[in-house]
Amino acid sequence: MSSTEEALRAEQGTLQEMARRHLWMNFTRLSAYADHEIPVIVRGEGCYVYDEHGKRYLDGLSALYCVNIGHGRADIAQAGADQAAELGFFTNWSYAHPPSIRLAARIAELAPGDLNRVFFTSGGSEAVESAIKLARQYFKLAGKPNKTKLIAREVAYHGSSLGALSATGITSLREPFEPLTPGGCHVPNTNAYRMAAGASEADFAEAISRRIEFEGPDTVAAVILEPVQNAGGCFTPPEGYFQRVREICDEHDVLLISDEVICAWGRLGEWFGSHRYGYQPDIITTAKGLTSAYAPMGALIASDRLAEPFLQGANSFTHGFTFAGHPVCAAIAMANLDAFEHEGILEHVRANEDAFRAMLDSLRDIPIVGDVRGAGYFHAIELVKDQDTKASFDQAESETLLRGFLSGELFRRGLICRADDRGDPVIQLCPPLIAGPEQFAEIEAVLRPVLTEAGERMRGPLAA
Ligand SMILES: Cc1ncc(COP(=O)(O)O)c(C=O)c1O
Repeated sequence: MSSTEEALRAEQGTLQEMARRHLWMNFTRLSAYADHEIPVIVRGEGCYVYDEHGKRYLDGLSALYCVNIGHGRADIAQAGADQAAELGFFTNWSYAHPPSIRLAARIAELAPGDLNRVFFTSGGSEAVESAIKLARQYFKLAGKPNKTKLIAREVAYHGSSLGALSATGITSLREPFEPLTPGGCHVPNTNAYRMAAGASEADFAEAISRRIEFEGPDTVAAVILEPVQNAGGCFTPPEGYFQRVREICDEHDVLLISDEVICAWGRLGEWFGSHRYGYQPDIITTAKGLTSAYAPMGALIASDRLAEPFLQGANSFTHGFTFAGHPVCAAIAMANLDAFEHEGILEHVRANEDAFRAMLDSLRDIPIVGDVRGAGYFHAIELVKDQDTKASFDQAESETLLRGFLSGELFRRGLICRADDRGDPVIQLCPPLIAGPEQFAEIEAVLRPVLTEAGERMRGPLAA
């Protein structure tokens, strides 16, 4: 071994040791790494990332649904560096600066209808948290102080801070922290694959209407929905769903919050998911792809109607975060959106999404593939025991399937995607928006043998 190789090995060993000893990874079973390496990703380029050993992976998850423009863009990094040299930081508490002003105006221009007022945050949970607080304070100013409750959907993920967690509909994430902020109510999501016998897709929206009536319309502030629900595996809305939800919200003076932390910025082939499905929210919450994750940034985009009472007299939205509108993040977001426009990213997604979907649909002949669903560059494959009966795996089987085999094997073969059982077990794919047929073929070349083997294992003696 040369001395350079030796030094590299020593550095890798040290990184592993330090990570094991000091790094508290998010939503991670730290014990899972007791007997094997923590994956350490050191570099990215386009649709690919590289680990500390130099092994290349296709990033089929855009890191965590966020590196929309792809990895390794020196121009976007440079925009941040230039801004840091000019004005590294100043606050948006009573002050403004050109990067956040320009970005707010640009977002308002792109957002649907009269969503013209942009409140920045550092990420998605903060955006959702801010939307919940805005809805509550808005109704207090409007003389309806009892309107505080929030209706969200089962299995949906809306963030991890305590307020956002009250919207999140995943029991295992809520339970350890109860009691949560009061007022979070949940209704069924748009899981058409597992719709009860005799039910119809129209019932999905009516469930929201019934819940508002059950709670008492005078107590409900807002409904929060993702255009395509991530957790549970990319549940798309049935035809007319959002139009009906909009009517229901108007009927009861309830705000419609479109949580587009994932579904904006080209993920569904449009600037916003609400463009794709043709509805007008009162608030959009967003983050992730706004900067393609070259810097942490989120935003709440509110309608003129909602902002109006806050423009009067001594009123103010008594809420904020130090780093909201951070100039470096805002400059990076601007460079990211420039790249989207110059490189025709939305058009690229629209031109290629059918090919992406066709590749995933072609896997339906593998017995473990139950359903393929999603939109744009955001899809899931639901895994089942039996395609005909749609029988799902129980918790122990799902543990064996996902953590005992799939996650590790997909990664070992160089594909980063998400094997998730927050609802029924799914594999999720959400590649950078620059991906095309070459990457789709690579994804298929890994998924086909791995899913085939997964099915065989779950039918065989290893299933236990
Ligand atoms: C729809 C949705 N809302 C909120 C969040 C929370 O965002 P963050 O992790 O940036 O706080 C997420 C994160 O994935 C999300 O997907």
